[in-house]
This record gives sequence, structure tokens and C-alpha cells, in this order.
Amino acid sequence: MRKLLIINGPNINMLGVREPDIYGRETYADLMERIVRACAECGFECTCFQSNHEGAIVDEIQRALGRFDGIVINPAAYTHTSIAIADALRAVDLPAIEVHLSDIDSREDYRKISYTKEACIRTVAGLGPAGYEQAIAFLREYFERVPREHIDSLKSE
Ligand code: DQA
Repeated sequence: MRKLLIINGPNINMLGVREPDIYGRETYADLMERIVRACAECGFECTCFQSNHEGAIVDEIQRALGRFDGIVINPAAYTHTSIAIADALRAVDLPAIEVHLSDIDSREDYRKISYTKEACIRTVAGLGPAGYEQAIAFLREYFERVPREHIDSLKSE
């Protein structure tokens, strides 16, 4: 069974409490339930990781090499600042999808820059928690299209 690593960055653990007009009322625990269900429906095993610390996220991405087949990541505020997270994603070279609950392109100018976007095969933004489900479904389609051997050869390079 293919394995996905779901990474959420700073303040995503505050969902439900945090700026509900922007991020909604669904809690982080609700989001985890939704993700686990979506992964099971798509035939993935999943591990969820959340941290408020940039280096911890970099460490977790590095550890994914050889252990996971794909990554779904909401780097939260680090999206707009972290070359280190973008470099870690490029380093492991696993198919990664960037997710944002809000539509970062229609908010403040400083949210329009995403360093992580270029290290991901797709960005899903503005769909709320459903964006994670879309990212998981996209990875399922991606793995159907990309033969297993190709993914394995990327891992062993
Ligand atoms: C966010 C958007 C970021 O700009 C913000 O810093 C977040 C959450 C989102 O999911 O919409 O913390 O990544």
C-alpha cells in the first residue's frame, strides 16, 4: 500500500479557533479525521505531522525519503518565507502537493509569494479542508499515471 505523509505547518493546530472567518470552524482534529478517511478511500496509508517549527518540518521531509511515496503539505506561513522547506522538498524529490485552506492569491500581497509551490507538482488553494481531499485524490491519479518503477528509480538515485 502506498504511503502519504501529510504535513501541516504553524498555527494549523489552531484550526476552528483561529480566524474562523478565513479558516472556518472545522478543528484540526476534524481535519485529521477527514484526511484519514480520504486516504483510506484512495487506498493510501497515511501519517499526519504538524509543527510550528521550520527545522522540524525540514527534518520530517528528509525522513520521508524511502518511507513515503508522496507528500501533502500546507506549510502555512512558511510558504511565503521558507527556502529551507522548498529545498527539502526538492531534495527528497517525492511527488508533493501544496494545500492552502484560503485563497492565498486573493489575500495580502505577502501571501502571493510561495517558495514551496515550485517544489510541488500542484497547488490547491481556497477550498478549505476539502482541498486536502482534492490533493489526496490527485496523488491517487498521479500514481495511476506514473509507473511504480519510475518512482522507485527516483528514490534510489
Ligand atoms: C495558509 C495560508 C497562509 O498564508 C497562512 O500563513 C496560514 C494558512 C492556508 O492554509 O490558507 O497559516 O497556509
